[in-house]
Amino acid sequence: MIRTRFIGTGHCVPEQVVSNLDLAKRIDTSDEWIRTRTGIRKRHVLGETEATSDIAARAGAHACEAAGISPSEIDCLVVATTTPDMPMPSCAIMTQHKLGMTGPAFDVGAACAGFTYGTAVVDSLIRAGLFRTVLFVGAEALSKFLDWDDRGTSVLFGDGAGAVVAVAEAQEASSSSAQARGILACHLDGDSRYWKDLNIPGGGTKNPPTSQTVAENLHVMNMNGRVVFSQAVRSLVDACETVLAKAGLTPDDVDLVIPHQANLRIIEAVARRIRMPMDRFIVNLDKYGNTSSASIPIALDEAVRGNVVKDGMVLLQCGLGAGLTWGAAVMRW
Ligand code: ACO
Repeated sequence: MIRTRFIGTGHCVPEQVVSNLDLAKRIDTSDEWIRTRTGIRKRHVLGETEATSDIAARAGAHACEAAGISPSEIDCLVVATTTPDMPMPSCAIMTQHKLGMTGPAFDVGAACAGFTYGTAVVDSLIRAGLFRTVLFVGAEALSKFLDWDDRGTSVLFGDGAGAVVAVAEAQEASSSSAQARGILACHLDGDSRYWKDLNIPGGGTKNPPTSQTVAENLHVMNMNGRVVFSQAVRSLVDACETVLAKAGLTPDDVDLVIPHQANLRIIEAVARRIRMPMDRFIVNLDKYGNTSSASIPIALDEAVRGNVVKDGMVLLQCGLGAGLTWGAAVMRW
């Protein structure tokens, strides 16, 4: 049977850094409030002339280099993003252009759950035999869609991109999940009743951009943080338990959890409820904030390059974003 394995990882964050102290100079907040309520210390943001595909391409090149393959050997490029360079063409096409490649390329949009949704899409394409080698990037620049004077959202997000090279690997059909390598199971879920609690209302077909939509601040993120927080904990716990059951595994089998990096308190609450110690969770949101669909692949790349991820380890990823959308995936490295 065919399974999907990640054979190279990479990431890229923009050079420009905004610290909590920088924000406190502009809005009514403090380093102490941001650190204790979220765990975030700083974030990277794109410069005025940079676009999402700039960092997506750099992360993609980094992952190809780690995998020891040239971008020209990639069969398909998938970018998980909710902040493409422009409505069309896709961010994946703009990324492909910067990588000097050709071939199929498309975006997956599930906000901060984009990397988890994209993992299921890429795994399905590979196992269906459509492609053998997929460059899969999570790239986001929510800094361009924030009201920097809104302390409820501006302190939370950062920009970045992370990438993996996913390949098809033939494995013994009889291999149970105890021996199988690569992606073992994925689980996706969503609940549109919460769409009003986290959205960017302007700029699409509902409220096309006009001077009035900009004056009314419809082009920036609008969030009910408390609702998202409590739903996030509940949904991520359910996704982790469901995907582990699908793979025939228990929390004790998991070596590392790579959660979406939204808020340290959300991660700690999930850890408590699925009864896993925090030292099994990869956390880097202190350096980057919430980079949406980029947060899981950035954390994965840092863990791989830091030698935290070792051959044969069981890795659990889980993400939640606007929609609400959420999911989880489990793999053996
Ligand atoms: N600095 C100082 N005070 C603040 C700030 C700030 N940056 N932001 C809010 N406050 C104040 C509030 O006004 C409130 O004051 P009040 O009591 O006088 O009314 C007080 O702090 C407490 O506000 P809460 O909203 O209850 O704070 P909470 O502990 O819930 O933390 C937070 C807010 C950090 C937003 C939290 O709710 C959260 O992380 N929610 C989840 C957000 C999330 O993960 N979103 C991303 C999803 S992924 C995607 O798709 C984009």
